[in-house]
Amino acid sequence: MKLLVCGGAGFIGSTFARQRLLEHGDEVTVLDKLTYAGREENLRDVAGRDGYSFLRGAIEEPEAVAAAIAAGRPEAIVNFAAETHVDRSIAEPDAFVRTHALGTYVLLEAAREHGLAYLQVSTDEVYGSIELGTFTEESPLRPSSPYSATKTGADLLVQSYFHTYGLPATICRGSNNYGPYQYPEKLIPLMILNALHGDPLPVYGDGMQVRNWIHASDFARAIGHVLEHGRHGEVYNAGGPDEEANIEVVRRIIELTGASESLIEHVADRPGHDRRYSLSSEKVRALGWEPRVRFQEGLEETVRWYRENRWWWEPIRSGEYREYYARQYGRALQG
Ligand code: NAD
Ligand code: DAU
Repeated sequence: MKLLVCGGAGFIGSTFARQRLLEHGDEVTVLDKLTYAGREENLRDVAGRDGYSFLRGAIEEPEAVAAAIAAGRPEAIVNFAAETHVDRSIAEPDAFVRTHALGTYVLLEAAREHGLAYLQVSTDEVYGSIELGTFTEESPLRPSSPYSATKTGADLLVQSYFHTYGLPATICRGSNNYGPYQYPEKLIPLMILNALHGDPLPVYGDGMQVRNWIHASDFARAIGHVLEHGRHGEVYNAGGPDEEANIEVVRRIIELTGASESLIEHVADRPGHDRRYSLSSEKVRALGWEPRVRFQEGLEETVRWYRENRWWWEPIRSGEYREYYARQYGRALQG
């Protein structure tokens, strides 16, 4: 296939782009704004390969999208481009509204104009929190944060383009991803790097919030499955095989890094914090997909990757991330 992968310089987008290039022989054009979270280095192992090209540009800019389509002549757009950190959406929602609402609209219009298929990468957070049981694709949409609310809006716009214009669009909603190349603002890489440095491990509230962990390689394969076999107009959930409370995730990381339990600090809870996510993946499993990586195995591999790839995270920890970290945690961690 010939794909335009928007947001392909981020964590999951780069995992997907690499998978499609190396395992499927696809041609991939990446369009990415390179926000703080996007890095061309995430794909440095495939840079220069036949079939791969990179363009810097924002999805909300029609000229940038048109240039990427002219350059790559894709059959489909796969949209990963997003602002993805819930805490940042609470502090500064502006970019979330712009990228998710306007950006998705611009991509949908381009897909319509050029007759392209469209896949929207979405999240289990659109369903809100669930104490017991598990979300299916039929569950009501009850997003709680500016991040999840704007992602929900984008999903609804995608569905409207299928219903109104017959755009061949699908949506794939994932649970919490982890693995190599994840920006260290997220729970798992943040805890790994802090544990390796002997820094405090900031657990929000009681740490009993539960997340449904999926390895990024499994989520990327699920997206590929939906792209190839999904029915247009449909939503497919892709959840991981294991659920775990945050405090238990932190304890596993402490064990794998050899850090001390005394580094754990319970800090003020996230406002509007969803207590539990849980996703049923029956529908995408019926397409022949299943997750391959169990949480403990994937976590061990992820800790090893961060230990062995200082070249990747050292520049991040000394750049924008430092200021973000001071803003987000400074006061809380000073007690
Ligand atoms: P990420 O933050 O690592 O990467 C996002 C990428 O999008 C970056 O490369 C960034 O530069 C790019 N981007 C941001 N705004 C853009 C814009 N306006 N125009 C072009 N590019 C832009 O995110 P991720 O964790 O890889 O998430 C990718 C997608 O998967 C998102 O849509 C997210 O909502 C969804 N998702 C993430 C998870 C998770 O646990 N990380 C789970 C389910 C779904
Ligand atoms: O569920 C899918 C979503 O998973 C994606 O759509 C989002 O893009 C992605 O960021 C992620 O959202 P979460 O809010 O669940 O991920 P985060 O890594 O920020 O937090 C995971 C849990 O850990 C959550 O309950 C908050 C908690 N946490 C997080 C951080 C960063 C802490 O206790 N301490 C922390 O320092």
